[in-house]
Amino acid sequence: MLPLQIGSFTPKAPVVLAPMAGVTNRAFRAMCRSYGDELVYVNEMVMSHAVVYRNDKTLTMMQFGDDESPRSLQIYGSDPDMLGRAVHQVCDEGRVDHVDLNFGCPAAKVTRKGGGAAVPAKPKLLQQIVRRAVQAAEPYGVPVTAKFRMGLWDDLRTDITTGRICADEGIGWIALHARTVEQHYSGEARWEAIGALKEAVTDIPVLGNGDIWEASDAVAMMAQTDCDGVVIGRGCLGRPWLFGDLITVLNGGEAPAPRRLGEVAEAMRRHARLLTDHYAGFGGEEHAMRDFRKHCAWYLSGYPVGPDVRRTLAQVSSLAQLDDVLGAFDPDAEIVEGGERIKRGHTNGPIKVALPEGYLDDPDELAIPDDADVMALSGG
Ligand SMILES: Cc1cc2nc3c(=O)[nH]c(=O)nc-3n(C[C@H](O)[C@H](O)[C@H](O)COP(=O)(O)O)c2cc1C
Repeated sequence: MLPLQIGSFTPKAPVVLAPMAGVTNRAFRAMCRSYGDELVYVNEMVMSHAVVYRNDKTLTMMQFGDDESPRSLQIYGSDPDMLGRAVHQVCDEGRVDHVDLNFGCPAAKVTRKGGGAAVPAKPKLLQQIVRRAVQAAEPYGVPVTAKFRMGLWDDLRTDITTGRICADEGIGWIALHARTVEQHYSGEARWEAIGALKEAVTDIPVLGNGDIWEASDAVAMMAQTDCDGVVIGRGCLGRPWLFGDLITVLNGGEAPAPRRLGEVAEAMRRHARLLTDHYAGFGGEEHAMRDFRKHCAWYLSGYPVGPDVRRTLAQVSSLAQLDDVLGAFDPDAEIVEGGERIKRGHTNGPIKVALPEGYLDDPDELAIPDDADVMALSGG
């Protein structure tokens, strides 16, 4: 197994929090870190244009905790020049210890212009983007990693070529979300593709991603695919303690029993306060509570909480109101059997993949996708 490393930092277990747009901000990562310190926790993605032009919202999105180490940021960009500038800027300003590149964004708005998950179908463009990012980060000793999907659809697989290009261009590790763009979030992740990528790319760590809901799934994925580590997305939505469980289980221990509702409520209170701090300069408590509504649904999935309470939390607008509702919970209530595996976050698909007219006619064509307006997307 190849070790994951960011400078002199080696995580306690080969586990990475998947970047999730609108979710993995400073507050969410602080929650996860409180249960499992010393892993790699990646910030939600930011757009290269928005970084370069210092968009206010993007600056809010790029916050890290004072005690956070390493500071990992995912940058999205399909224009090599813009991406290089963004990577240079965040490194030069000392904002990050690690940059992750997103080549898996399946949003039609993006792929229709040849950006995001469409880029791997143009290997030369992909190579230029990766090269510019690595060159920009290198003088600062900041490693660059990449995350991508299996391909556009089953007959257009790009994962192996993408992995090879990344390895040849100096990428630190690659992570495969084992679905095609067409699949979007449907069906089960196809872990066999992770095994095949690991066999094809032997010089840098290969991480597996997709459908790890409980710590035992990570053990199973690593055993089945021989991958060097795991990337955890939806499994930790409403379950930030999953990272503590992963450290325990991947180091040979037993996973603790599922949390009772009292512990869940305590986490919700803490998370809502951290989110309010996070948005202090950008809408404060009101904005934070709006954002927290989706987390309420995730925290409570599988717990015996009635529809009226859920409806109230779907419109919760203050910390005081949240505390009132949580105060009435039965702290001893347990999650239903299999509740940890209830799918959360995105579940939809398959989708029709949108591409520019004639996009696949010439894979060597080097038209630069225009992703200047790619804001507010949920990216992978
Ligand atoms: C709400 C949400 C937002 C996401 N945003 C991003 C993103 O910004 N960048 C990215 O590379 N992947 C993004 N993804 C994809 C995840 O990182 C991950 O690849 C995917 O959810 C599969 O892993 P999982 O089965 O563990 O969830 C997002 C997923 C969700 C559910």
